[in-house]
Amino acid sequence: MNGFEQAIGSLDLKLFEKISSQSNDHDKKSLMACQLAARELAPGYVYLEIGSYLGGSIQPHLLDPDCRRIYSIDKRPLVQPDERGVDYTYLNNSTARMLENLRGVAPEQVAKVVTIDGDTGEIATSEIGEKVTLCFIDGEHTDEAVLRDFRFCLEVLDERGAILFDDANIIYNGIADCLEYLKAKKIDFRAFNLPDKIFAVTIGDFPIHRNERLHERILDNYQSYLYSLQSNDFYRKFVNKRPFRLYRKLMVKLKGLNKFD
Ligand SMILES: C[S@@+](CC[C@H](N)C(=O)[O-])C[C@H]1O[C@@H](n2cnc3c(N)ncnc32)[C@H](O)[C@@H]1O
Repeated sequence: MNGFEQAIGSLDLKLFEKISSQSNDHDKKSLMACQLAARELAPGYVYLEIGSYLGGSIQPHLLDPDCRRIYSIDKRPLVQPDERGVDYTYLNNSTARMLENLRGVAPEQVAKVVTIDGDTGEIATSEIGEKVTLCFIDGEHTDEAVLRDFRFCLEVLDERGAILFDDANIIYNGIADCLEYLKAKKIDFRAFNLPDKIFAVTIGDFPIHRNERLHERILDNYQSYLYSLQSNDFYRKFVNKRPFRLYRKLMVKLKGLNKFD
């Protein structure tokens, strides 16, 4: 077994070591488990990602001999809106910088990367020349952008494949909209969350959950449940501050919501 096969088979974090990524170690392992499962089901797979920044989440696919093409879509705005209500700034965010980073990982593989600067609202799906097996949505963290990115991914996805989201604890309403969209369109899907903040949707007959490594992570999804709630606990602490608590107590009392008979 060669070094890459061994590393992906054991979800070895060294596949992420050369370029820093905004995912934590649990997320990286979940992403690798999905990659492992997808490459088994669709050897020679095509990977598409929306939101690449420095190239951190591209590196395991760049190193993967089973990945024949990588599409990286990134608008690279200086400031991006976010559902948390605070805008985020990315300095020196450029495609040239990302490609330089990727050359440092596997220079001979960079030719398989196709970069598209823009967002999915302005890019034609015909720019994606091959059907995609695995998508990763990690661009603008607003519910509106998430649904737009998801619909784009659905259009370029093969008959069967998977679409992953990062930061599910932030864009959960956008994910809910995506699932409603699938239901409205009567598209068969499965969906599950993975530690810590990855959310996976599979389309068609694409049973990545049967992969042993991924299955273990699905069974450990208590971590993503707790991570998500605890990361939002700030809001509960806020509404429990004295003036808000007094107001809530009053409202509950007036409406009789705190009485059980
Ligand atoms: C969280 S970072 C991506 C991190 C990367 N996936 C990683 O794991 O290292 C978000 C990226 O989304 C890009 N972005 C922001 N708004 C976007 C949009 N509307 N469409 C596409 N990409 C966008 C930003 O330029 C930034 O590079």
